[in-house]
Amino acid sequence: MSDAIAKTAQKSGIAAVQRCIVHGCAAQFGIREQIYVCSRCGGPLEIEIPLELLKSGPDLRERWRARAASHDPRDRSGVWRYRELLPFDNDAPVVTLFEGNTPLYDAPRSAKYAGLTALRLKHQGCNPTASFKDTGMTTTVTQAKLLGARTVVCASTGNTAASLAAYAARAELQCAILLPQGQISPAKLAQSMDYGAIICEIAGNFDDCMRLISELADVPSIYIANSVNPFRIEGQKTVAFELLAQCDWRVPDHVVVPGGNMGNSSALGKGFDEMLRLGFIDRLPKLSIIQSEGSAPLAHLFAALPTSDIAADAAFPDEIAPVANPRTLATAIKIGAPVSWKKALRAVLRTRGSVLTVSEQEIADAKAIIGRDGIGCEPASATTVAGIRKLVVARKIHTGESVVAVLTGHVLKDPDYVSNYHRGTLALETLTEQGAAKSVPIVGAFRNAPQKVAATKVAILKSLESRR
Ligand code: F0G
Repeated sequence: MSDAIAKTAQKSGIAAVQRCIVHGCAAQFGIREQIYVCSRCGGPLEIEIPLELLKSGPDLRERWRARAASHDPRDRSGVWRYRELLPFDNDAPVVTLFEGNTPLYDAPRSAKYAGLTALRLKHQGCNPTASFKDTGMTTTVTQAKLLGARTVVCASTGNTAASLAAYAARAELQCAILLPQGQISPAKLAQSMDYGAIICEIAGNFDDCMRLISELADVPSIYIANSVNPFRIEGQKTVAFELLAQCDWRVPDHVVVPGGNMGNSSALGKGFDEMLRLGFIDRLPKLSIIQSEGSAPLAHLFAALPTSDIAADAAFPDEIAPVANPRTLATAIKIGAPVSWKKALRAVLRTRGSVLTVSEQEIADAKAIIGRDGIGCEPASATTVAGIRKLVVARKIHTGESVVAVLTGHVLKDPDYVSNYHRGTLALETLTEQGAAKSVPIVGAFRNAPQKVAATKVAILKSLESRR
């Protein structure tokens, strides 16, 4: 496509549509219709970008690379830099905090721990509000502006809320967040307070908050910012583009992500798929999703799929059995009824990846190892390295393959967890089979507690000697 045609296509409201992903429905809706699920069958919606128009044009990869050196705010954003693949006009009122542009680190200690020759960590915790959510909030809040919404709302385990609160403040929109009371890291809650959101602490868990959100969906002045909203996925899919660019367009063998509400895995799946369809890559990385043992509805469903049907779209189940009382110290992914499981499972099956669980102990130790690489992350993110270790043992990942783990949140997102791990006071409160309360201690294999040291040179040198 010539630049002129591309410009016309973009200017005219582009030919992107919202489409139901359910086979046999595939209903189509306009890009400015305020809906979250298919109004015909209730299925999930996805934005369809007319890739054919872009295929015959000049190599976008060069254009994207050049933009990284520009001072235009849209070019400086690691999301809007890829705007040819976003469902917005060129004059959209972009709300950006210069999200994206996150580092891809080599992590030798984590690699060794996981049984790999090398491992790279894509650190989405280096976003403006310190989690991957920002890449989806920039597009969602921009869409909220376009639709003339007065209020943006979300249910959250903490990070979505902090991110939405920040972007809503930038856009001067009212923001209300629904949080499960007492189940959010204080650091995440503090962010939302500072960004000026109306914070509704709900007596219930995340899934209860999500149910309330779907009840609010029919209020026209309210715009929902959870990942059921396909505009969230559009922003988040650009992480796949940025990652591939950082790999010089050499496709990693495996990309591994944590799974909660499943927006992130859905978005990466869509991003890689679009790059394949544009011919920028010639194969897909295997996408694997890791869940915490006590909060693993998709892993349970995946384990029950007949092995012969894995990788076949025909095997796609209609329902997922929710986990009624999810339990995990990785509170970001404490979710029993993930909204975007269908899109996420589709991505896993298409790429021949896996969905598996890791224990609280495995998450905690993997997190400490990521810290020893000088990187650090929040507990949910560490499921990736713990999961990779299990996949290596199961010979689903081979020692010399190229593997990228996506770290979703910053280490300072949950300082109480970090401190308790290193001081030996971390424990999961749970129930026995008879229903009695029980506390399961997590014994930190890589503990690093502060020591009391006398205020003398000798004492300090002695302390150093004891740790040689
Ligand atoms: N990692 C972190 C740090 C998260 O905050 C979340 C989700 C996930 C992983 C899982 O991502 O939901 O796309 O599968 N946090 C949401 C929230 C639910 O409300 O902040 P997902």
